[in-house]
Amino acid sequence: MAILLTGGAGYIGSHTCVELLNAGYKLIVVDDLSNSKLNSMVRIKEITGKDFKFYKTDILDREALESIFVENSIEAVIHLAGLKSVGESVQMPLHYYHNNITGTLVLCELMKKYNVKKMVFSSSATVYGVPEYVPISEDFPLRAMNPYGRTKLMIEEMLRDLYHSDHDWSISLLRYFNPIGAHESGRIGEDPKSIPNNLMPYITQTAVGKLEELYVFGNDYPTVDGTGVRDYIHVVDLAKGHLKALEKILTSKGVEAYNLGTGKGYSVLQIVAAFEKTTGTKIPYKIVKRRQGDVASCYADPTKARKELGWLAEKGIEDMCRDAWGWQEKNPSGYEDVLQDRNTSFVF
Ligand code: NAD
Ligand code: WQD
Repeated sequence: MAILLTGGAGYIGSHTCVELLNAGYKLIVVDDLSNSKLNSMVRIKEITGKDFKFYKTDILDREALESIFVENSIEAVIHLAGLKSVGESVQMPLHYYHNNITGTLVLCELMKKYNVKKMVFSSSATVYGVPEYVPISEDFPLRAMNPYGRTKLMIEEMLRDLYHSDHDWSISLLRYFNPIGAHESGRIGEDPKSIPNNLMPYITQTAVGKLEELYVFGNDYPTVDGTGVRDYIHVVDLAKGHLKALEKILTSKGVEAYNLGTGKGYSVLQIVAAFEKTTGTKIPYKIVKRRQGDVASCYADPTKARKELGWLAEKGIEDMCRDAWGWQEKNPSGYEDVLQDRNTSFVF
């Protein structure tokens, strides 16, 4: 029996592949490479030395996805495939709703048809919108503020309805906070297609000289130094959270949401200082006006994941900075994919 991982070539997916393979799971990866490179798969094979299957497939392609269910004996699905840029989702809402929601719908219909009723879903802290206070626990009101966030919220609701219609389902909704960092080997990491929207890749690209300076979005928030506070979590800790959630859904039924965060908040300037100290680099920055839609402070209460999944983030901010830099320094142009054009599937 195998685990099907959608979106497995992406940033979080590639790190989840490594943890799954190292834990001895049989793995099938599905990704259309719309926001990732095939080279990530080559590097996963190199890191783990383990075999796995890769299908270059769009989850919206029902026929192609169905053939994967026919060819393989799938026990559970970890569903990460999706588009994730908040700004792009405002510009292209239909594209986001179609890809994220219809994609999940097609996947769930096939799971139902082939009696695979176990899913770990990558949701996001964005479903909390503007929290009334912090830390945020899973029972906070849900109110997404943009099309991307609404796709996550709608999918969560769809999956809850699915469970309520058939109690054989077992579903974990993982609400990630701010994943940063990379595998300690420096062989896999975050590889944004264009100028990064997120803080850490912007910092690493500034450190490596690809970008001139960091723009800090506002220093007049009610926080420790006026800059925005977030719960940054090492991507390897996050990947390990998927294994814990998988163990849970393999052994029990129900639908539950879990915050995957550290429970600690860091401001933008604290991150800049930690990065400079850990890596010995200098990050020139300029304070500019607030970015529309940003909240002042967002960090998790991760107690539920600790109690029910036995999961706790172990890595600190220095590990996150060191590993983010290790990846960027060794791969200044990302994966530079030579295999990108091979429109096919592989057994790695
Ligand atoms: P990513 O873009 O690196 O990975 C997503 C992967 O899904 C990509 O490899 C992309 O090619 C693939 N994909 C997209 N649409 C697809 C489709 N229709 N069929 C097949 N593959 C498809 O992003 P990531 O940061 O690794 O995020 C993974 C998941 O976690 C996403 O669902 C994202 O919304 C969610 N998430 C990410 C963050 C974050 O800050 N990175 C935070 C919260 C939630
Ligand atoms: C972090 C802090 C910015 C860039 C986003 C999505 C969220 C989730 C994770 C998927 C904020 C500040 C940033 C820059 C800056 N993704 N910043 N200069 O906004 O917390 O979350 O990614 O689910 O849905 O909204 O992350 O890394 O963009 O910002 O000053 O160039 O850094 O204002 O305070 P965010 P981020």
